[in-house]
Amino acid sequence: MRVLISGSTGLIGSSLVRALEDGGHDVHRLLRPQSRSAANGIMWDPASGNLDPRHIEGFDAVVHLAGENIANRRWSEEQMARIRDSRIGSTTLLAEALASLDSPPAVFACASAAGYYGDRGDALLDEDAPPGQGFMAESTKEWEDATGPAASGGIRVVNLRIGVVLTAAGGMLPRVMPIFKLGFGGKLGSGNQYMSWVSRSDAIGATVWALEHDDLSGPVNVSSPSPVTNSEFTRALARTLGRPAMFTVPQVVLRIMQGGMAEVVTSSARMEPTRLRTSGFKFEHPDIDSALRWALTDASAF
Ligand SMILES: NC(=O)c1ccc[n+]([C@@H]2O[C@H](COP(=O)([O-])OP(=O)(O)OC[C@H]3O[C@@H](n4cnc5c(N)ncnc54)[C@H](OP(=O)(O)O)[C@@H]3O)[C@@H](O)[C@H]2O)c1
Repeated sequence: MRVLISGSTGLIGSSLVRALEDGGHDVHRLLRPQSRSAANGIMWDPASGNLDPRHIEGFDAVVHLAGENIANRRWSEEQMARIRDSRIGSTTLLAEALASLDSPPAVFACASAAGYYGDRGDALLDEDAPPGQGFMAESTKEWEDATGPAASGGIRVVNLRIGVVLTAAGGMLPRVMPIFKLGFGGKLGSGNQYMSWVSRSDAIGATVWALEHDDLSGPVNVSSPSPVTNSEFTRALARTLGRPAMFTVPQVVLRIMQGGMAEVVTSSARMEPTRLRTSGFKFEHPDIDSALRWALTDASAF
């Protein structure tokens, strides 16, 4: 396949580029002026609405991963607007451009997130579950809806509802590991909230799977078949690192430390990867212990 990827310099994108190239695909990057990549790519500037459709003709597949990182900065009103607008604006721009092409791609896979479901306790959430409430859930719903022009243009659209990606290369794990290594690890808030997680290699495998399987379209939960509560995750990480984890970070402290981002770490989403499973996808890391053992060695190239 000739594949175009936005957000190719990120945690998922960098690994996806390598996997697709290793699989013999012809990979091109959609790069912003700020992108930290020396590779030759196709330029776009989603913040100012710049994308020349002539430059994206003739791809077989497009994967859209670009968006302001949700955990790099405290969630001020301004930062929340950046998180939301960078996703909805860029997706609208790309989806409309793809729909206008003489030779559009067969498939457009767009990142989405477990945040779509909001805070849902221990309810099992397959792809048919309705969206939740709150900033992340409402923004993620709009982000998915922004792929509409591509679907209306006859392109197969897959909305990848990704869980927390586990890898020591970036994202959540390297933030919490130093604390756990010092023996100060502990659950967040009640610890009863479910976290839907996926190893980075399974997130990449599922994305490639979605590109290759014509029967998959619409939302696809990209998360392991065994989501864990925050308490279970805490015990599993402590076990893997051989450290104790006896502490609890109270909810009020989380709110002070993280502003609106506390919504993400205390929300409960227990996703079921029903569409991946029924289409025959096999997880390399279906349980948290094997995923953590693998993730701690996956520090490559990000
Ligand atoms: N990692 C996770 O645990 C996780 C979980 C659920 C969903 N997701 C979603 O999956 C996608 C990829 O995740 P990731 O972890 O790879 O993200 P990431 O490491 O933060 O990378 C995202 C990429 O987006 C581009 N970007 C950064 N700021 C941007 C902005 N303001 N506007 C437009 N593009 C911007 C950058 O690429 P360029 O500079 O090359 O454009 C960056 O490398 C994101 O949309 C994320 O929300 C991730």
